[in-house]
Amino acid sequence: MENVKIIGCGYAHGSKCVTNDDLGKIVETSDEWIRSRTGIEQRTVSETMNTSDLAIQAAKMAIEKSGIDKHKISLILVATCTPDHVTPSCACLVQEALGLNDDAVMAFDINAACSGFLYALQCAAKLLDQGVALVIGAETLSKILDWSDRNTCVLFGDGAGAVLMERSQDGSYMSFYARSKGDKEHALFCDGRSLQPHLKNVDDPKPYLHMNGREVFRFAIRSMPDAIEHVLGKESIDSIDMIIPHQANIRILEYVSRKLGFPMEKMFINLDRFGNTSAASVPLALGQAWEQKKIKENMNLILVGFGAGFTWSACRIHIEGGNHHDDQ
Ligand code: UT7
Repeated sequence: MENVKIIGCGYAHGSKCVTNDDLGKIVETSDEWIRSRTGIEQRTVSETMNTSDLAIQAAKMAIEKSGIDKHKISLILVATCTPDHVTPSCACLVQEALGLNDDAVMAFDINAACSGFLYALQCAAKLLDQGVALVIGAETLSKILDWSDRNTCVLFGDGAGAVLMERSQDGSYMSFYARSKGDKEHALFCDGRSLQPHLKNVDDPKPYLHMNGREVFRFAIRSMPDAIEHVLGKESIDSIDMIIPHQANIRILEYVSRKLGFPMEKMFINLDRFGNTSAASVPLALGQAWEQKKIKENMNLILVGFGAGFTWSACRIHIEGGNHHDDQ
């Protein structure tokens, strides 16, 4: 358990809305199939903004909403599997864009696929001493999708979410659970650059995302309840006011809801509008819930996710009164 609290959230998404019918024009699919199998109605795709640009937009919104002096930021973590560059990290690009180059900031990226933001949140909670941590999940998955593969291209979208976290003295806390299982590499992967292709004199094929949907589905319905049960410990699910889950598939969430006896109405869901934005999915949903003032004082919530690796993670958040800087 860490005495930390979130003091501001922000989000961003791709500029172009792509509906299921739009996808029906480029692959053999239909609005009916996508809606009934996933719950997704549309997603947003970024045409000009790269991952760091979305991350910066979300970060600026979080800073503005929280009203903090940005120079208090001492740690920047960006969870992403679609960074702008191999190096430098998106986190360093965010630092530069926010004008924090002369501040004592540690900045780096984390890749734990769709669990990345929850991993990053846990790392920030452990690393943070004084000051404020800026924790972001950001992705432009559109650039690693094979737009002729109906198994994957209908599921994903581009976006970002950012939170500001500081040490709490008011009783607010977070507890975490995170696991990985590295023997399932084949179930969901995107190749990187080939080893020495220029020496072998072969073309480096464009790496696209590949997925065994059924295997990932089976993993998801085991791992999400597992992570939630771990952060609950002996506590009853009835004490949780809201779950903000990784937004992959409504059928996965309905299963989790049934398994845990947790009402769907208390899950925050925006996958119908944004699809699966991988590491951005949980903070994008959190950012929207925060903006809609659904995150209230004296509330208990759980963030939960799973992803390639496999990885899975949950965070239980207790919010004591007075967290909303922008409401004061
Ligand atoms: O962040 C983690 C990322 N991934 C996930 O969370 C994915 C988890 N898995 C899923 O969400 C589901 O497995 C999918 C939505 C990917 C697929 O749903 P499903 O009910 O498991 O379908 P399926 O894979 O069993 O495929 C059923 C049929 C197949 O045709 P046949 O073999 O029965 O003739 C597919 O070829 O649906 C076909 N199909 C499609 N048809 C229309 C697959 N994709 C499409 C599509 N449009 N886009």
